[in-house]
Amino acid sequence: MTGLALSPQVFAILSALIEEKTGLHYDLDDAPLLADKLVPRVVERGLDSLLDYYYFLRYDPASDAEVAQLVEALVVNETYFFRELAPLENVVQSCVPELLRAGVRPRIWCAACATGEEPLTLAMLLDAAGLLEEVTLVASDISTRALARAREGVYFRRSLRALKPEAVGRWLTPLEKGMQVESRLTNAIDFRRVNLIDEAQVRALGQFDIVLCRNVLIYFSDATVQTVIAALTRALTPNGRLIVGASESLLRFTSGLVCEERAGSFYYCKRTT
Ligand SMILES: C[S@@+](CC[C@H](N)C(=O)[O-])C[C@H]1O[C@@H](n2cnc3c(N)ncnc32)[C@H](O)[C@@H]1O
Repeated sequence: MTGLALSPQVFAILSALIEEKTGLHYDLDDAPLLADKLVPRVVERGLDSLLDYYYFLRYDPASDAEVAQLVEALVVNETYFFRELAPLENVVQSCVPELLRAGVRPRIWCAACATGEEPLTLAMLLDAAGLLEEVTLVASDISTRALARAREGVYFRRSLRALKPEAVGRWLTPLEKGMQVESRLTNAIDFRRVNLIDEAQVRALGQFDIVLCRNVLIYFSDATVQTVIAALTRALTPNGRLIVGASESLLRFTSGLVCEERAGSFYYCKRTT
């Protein structure tokens, strides 16, 4: 069907609409990849063309539900336990004790948590240090499906590939296939659906001493990264710290944050003056 071919013109309006709703940025080179994700949605909706799909997303009163479905098709939920571990260890060994000594109950937000492996790794490290009950943990993602999996706490090989052997038996119980995370850990995390480009949703979460926003900025344009970083900066307490992914330097942007190195990990600290 010719309507299911993604012409440069239709790519331009559809990719702009997707970016407006989700922050996800696609270059023209990504058009075949995007078409692979969009065409099944067009077919499922019973529409004849990608252009009709665009009009549906843009103008139909039922479009919010379809955008939510589309998000599930587009997002990359790739993550695993103990990924990029050093900054998490540093949070537990250095930042959290520092806040506790200052009489603060640390509030930590994992801002694109996918299926939950990252906040659960943090919960394991906090538990091992006897600090799990001393902190408030919030974890969010745009994907409702990923959050449902996070709350369920059942994980398979891909998520377990860098698992520390000592975690098994202590926080994870082997199942016939995969592993179940102890409910004490999943219950210690407040999982919420938050679209990072929706400033009102970010604001509603309140303020945090530490925000982890790792391996999601790579999917956004520079302009969107700056908007998201501004919203995350507003969500930080004075002297609060933002941690991004190992490949996601913010140094090329001007922001209200100062980069600081601690034990080989980089933090972006909120400027107080
Ligand atoms: C590759 S995963 C990163 C997971 C984890 N932070 C890590 O580093 O292992 C990227 C996540 O970002 C989420 N995401 C993409 N766009 C988002 C948005 N606009 N708001 C919130 N989450 C978003 C995706 O659903 C996906 O779960």
